[in-house]
Amino acid sequence: FPPSFESSFVTQQVQASTQRHTGIAQEASRRRTFAVISHPDAGKSTLTEALALHARVIGTAGATNGKENRRETVSDWMQMEKDRGISISSTALQFSYRDTVINLLDTPGHSDFSEDTYRVLAAVDCAVMLIDAAKGLETQTMKLFEVCRQRNIPIITVINKWDRPGLDALALMDEVTERTGLIPMPLTWAVGFAGDFRGVWDLKRDEFVRFTRKNAGASLATEEHLSPAEALAQEGDAWTDALDEASLVIESNQPFSIESFHAGTGTPVLFSSAVLNFGVQHILDTLVDLAPAAGPRRDVDGTPRPVDAPFSGFVFKVQAGMNRAHRDHVAFIRVCSGVFERGMVVTHANSGKTFATKYAQQLFGREREVIDEAWPGDVVGLVNASALRMGDSLYVEEPVEFPPIPLFSPEHFRVARSKDAGRFKQFRRGIEQLGHEGIIQVLRSDLRGDQAPVLAAVGPMQFEVVADRMEHDFGAPMRMEPLPYSLARLTTHDAQAALSAIRGTEVLVRSDGEYLALFNDIWALRRVEKNSPEISLSTIGTDA
Ligand code: G4P
Repeated sequence: FPPSFESSFVTQQVQASTQRHTGIAQEASRRRTFAVISHPDAGKSTLTEALALHARVIGTAGATNGKENRRETVSDWMQMEKDRGISISSTALQFSYRDTVINLLDTPGHSDFSEDTYRVLAAVDCAVMLIDAAKGLETQTMKLFEVCRQRNIPIITVINKWDRPGLDALALMDEVTERTGLIPMPLTWAVGFAGDFRGVWDLKRDEFVRFTRKNAGASLATEEHLSPAEALAQEGDAWTDALDEASLVIESNQPFSIESFHAGTGTPVLFSSAVLNFGVQHILDTLVDLAPAAGPRRDVDGTPRPVDAPFSGFVFKVQAGMNRAHRDHVAFIRVCSGVFERGMVVTHANSGKTFATKYAQQLFGREREVIDEAWPGDVVGLVNASALRMGDSLYVEEPVEFPPIPLFSPEHFRVARSKDAGRFKQFRRGIEQLGHEGIIQVLRSDLRGDQAPVLAAVGPMQFEVVADRMEHDFGAPMRMEPLPYSLARLTTHDAQAALSAIRGTEVLVRSDGEYLALFNDIWALRRVEKNSPEISLSTIGTDA
């Protein structure tokens, strides 16, 4: 080529690449990826529906029918979830609101599935901590909060169910401060006590937003925006009380600071009634205006990968059996950098193998859509990519490995056996698959043999999911016998013989190759620690 052509070609290439980088950075900056953490019954499903309603994703909210008889919520999908009225599996719900793309990652509410929730938290940039106004901070909220704290995930606090009698707002703020160490930074403050929710003081705009319920909460509530003078004239003491209380919190702490929020030292506070759609708009606006956008993610060495680097992501969840008719297996990837394009050939960091991502989907409760591209912060479901395991990294061009997702310390142990000896092959395949999905941890030992693996769970309900999946997805009904252990520690191959000689102790090998010593109780563990200090015993990942 003549030199002038060549240089203009290079210039075009450089321009195209600059545009691509700017495009990716822009798309990343409009992503908000978060999860709602709460104790069961605080209103997480109701809030999810209310958020979808406000973003006009759904036309009406069904939550007012109550949990028992409400229509399928946007985030329930397994039959068992419906039967029990709990949400077991994690889904990603994506919608646009204003000019932002919101990725709401659903987490199971039941504490037996907390391991699943912890993994989802590896994939978010922010969490909404939903508190029942009558109950304050409950056990599961505290556990999830602890995981967020360890991971430095910024938290937005929402006091929900303000339409029902509950605790005093200032008492709730004290509880947040004392039990989480977070500094409450009110963005809105309830006007009217719990049970008499009239509206909120919007501190930034300094206005009263009055809510009126519509259609028993199935539609958006009517919001009127009034000046402080109008609010005073109409609401009297309820208004001045709100001003006094919020001012007290700010004066004794600090006014809202985005740096403090992002650093995880302060938490914006809002009030809501998810069931009546009160205060939900403020939650969405807070996510858009203040929550962190998808940013650079640290790799296993702690080096941040810029969002405009070539595509990379990691698997935070593997799930099968969502669609019984199709027997599928979906690996959920959080996109960390670059643009994901359906069909692109990616490298699996763990095996070094490449594969084409032909079947990429976005999931919305039971609905699925094929997606063509995804940006940092988005979640992609890769269908039938059965080599992918939880925590695996994927990339194109520039290799990267993201930190593994920690396994949690199991507390419940059962021996599994196939009910039907003729279906042992299916049994073995099923157990292995459920282990890969992270539904259960699978432990083995030479002593117990292949026929009788030990299943280890954080919560006993995980066993029910295994039994259900084994029967329906793998055609391998099984029996389970409980084991007396309640505690596990990591140990070494060398310690196996010594530990196995001690009564009430057993050593098994987990599918990732780690040696786990199981103990009946803390006393049994302490005895070994005292009598055999040379035996290496360490705690496993994060204790649930
Ligand atoms: P979860 O996902 O966190 O487990 O909670 P979910 O949304 O299912 O809500 C639990 C119950 O609380 C539901 O009532 C729901 O309607 C109610 N609820 C949620 N948000 C609010 C709120 O802001 N105010 C009031 N008053 N109720 C709320 P349910 O299943 O019908 O149970 P019940 O209330 O009949 O016992």
